[in-house]
Amino acid sequence: MAEPKIVAHGITKYFGVGAGAVKALEPFDLFVNTGEFICILGPSGCGKSTFLRMVAGLIEPSTGSLFMDGQPIAGPHRERGLVFQEYALFPWKTVLGNVMYGPLVQRLGRRKAHDIATEQINRVGLKGFESRFPRELSGGMKQRVGIARVLANQPEVLLMDEPFGALDSITRGIMQQDLLKLWLEERKTVLFVTHSVEEAIYLADRIVVMSPRPGRIVSIIAVEPARPRNLLSSECIALRAQLTRLVEEQVVSASSRPMNMPAYAD
Ligand SMILES: Nc1ncnc2c1ncn2[C@@H]1O[C@H](COP(=O)(O)OP(=O)(O)O)[C@@H](O)[C@H]1O
Ligand SMILES: [Mg+2]
Repeated sequence: MAEPKIVAHGITKYFGVGAGAVKALEPFDLFVNTGEFICILGPSGCGKSTFLRMVAGLIEPSTGSLFMDGQPIAGPHRERGLVFQEYALFPWKTVLGNVMYGPLVQRLGRRKAHDIATEQINRVGLKGFESRFPRELSGGMKQRVGIARVLANQPEVLLMDEPFGALDSITRGIMQQDLLKLWLEERKTVLFVTHSVEEAIYLADRIVVMSPRPGRIVSIIAVEPARPRNLLSSECIALRAQLTRLVEEQVVSASSRPMNMPAYAD
């Protein structure tokens, strides 16, 4: 087994202080191996984005510790690239300008930044769209730019927070296939948040199933079938039934809580 890339040990997260504090995460332990594709599956409001933002270094855990390559995560760093559902592109920059931004911030120089950006734009299938503006692109294309922009920073870890959640199902399927291809080429470590059981089965080495808020790990399930996976194979269908049951059990147990313990107050 490879060295762990990311280690989360006993992390919790409270938002606010005192009686009004919201507990977003229960003590949370997770070891992510180098080159592993992890999907985090859980209902809305269970703390998935909170966890990813902690790994990104954007917010700190309330307790516990987070490490990358054995070093504490102390803040954002280009080695951990975050892709959001909302694309987060600069509307006033072209595709090329958006993707060159990271390398320029790294002071790699215009020529090098241009080369890196062009390579990543090609990799995500947007050759020919370099001088377009985000408003001229479809949702799927915008998200391709978002992915190219993060890849241009040459991250070791990709943090993807429901990146395809806003896309129609056909575009989403194509994006999943293309992401898988990119991952097979480079085997970056990926933490991918989703609430789609099918998406998790298609992409992940292991699926982390979370409970409703306060989020905790209910189960970690290895996905064995070789890629690309056929979701209609008997193995995938059995896995889908198992995961759906796990997720539904969580939701049912949460909805039987008293009214003053909402599980979904987002
Ligand atoms: N900045 C914040 N302040 C207060 N509560 C927050 C904040 N961010 C998230 N929360 C709460 O923490 C819980 C988990 O949120 P989040 O991580 O966004 O869930 P998910 O991504 O799984 O939908 C939710 O109940 C949410 O309302
Ligand atoms: Mg979220």
